[in-house]
Amino acid sequence: MLRLSLLSLICASTFSFAADDPKTAARLATFTKDIKPILDKTCISCHGKDGKKPKGGFNATTLDGIVKGGKEEGKGITWGDADKSSLYHLAFLGATAPNEDKAMPPKKHDPLTTEQLATIKTWIEAK
Ligand code: HEC
Repeated sequence: MLRLSLLSLICASTFSFAADDPKTAARLATFTKDIKPILDKTCISCHGKDGKKPKGGFNATTLDGIVKGGKEEGKGITWGDADKSSLYHLAFLGATAPNEDKAMPPKKHDPLTTEQLATIKTWIEAK
């Protein structure tokens, strides 16, 4: 019985969160399902793995850290505009201009695929 009421409490708070701000809830859901696995594979080794100090101040382990961005290139995510989001912009350079200083991941590391970049862009620009 306790378990049941706990469960309904959790459900109730989840639903009210979703109803208050459906966009935030949708962003978080897509982050967990589609985006985090991409970053975990290609970026996390230098950006916050095992509590190590993230390179460039960019912590890719949480959505908050990703939105905030690193030290020099501005916000990691500007919702609605992938090109103004350092997360996307630097990863795009990584795939298209790996010799650029700021390209991510740095050269010699496998860049994101066109499909992964499209997934990130769609997520950032979803209405
Ligand atoms: C091999 C290590 C390594 C990997 C892997 C890596 N990065 Fe970085 N990243 C760095 C370093 C080092 C910096 C600091 C700036 C510099 O030296 O270019 C940095 C900085 C950044 C910044 C902050 C820029 C600023 O100053 O505002 C962002 C954003 C970023 N990386 C995104 C990514 C993304 C996205 C990926 C995965 C696609 C990734 N990085 C993978 C090493 C890495």
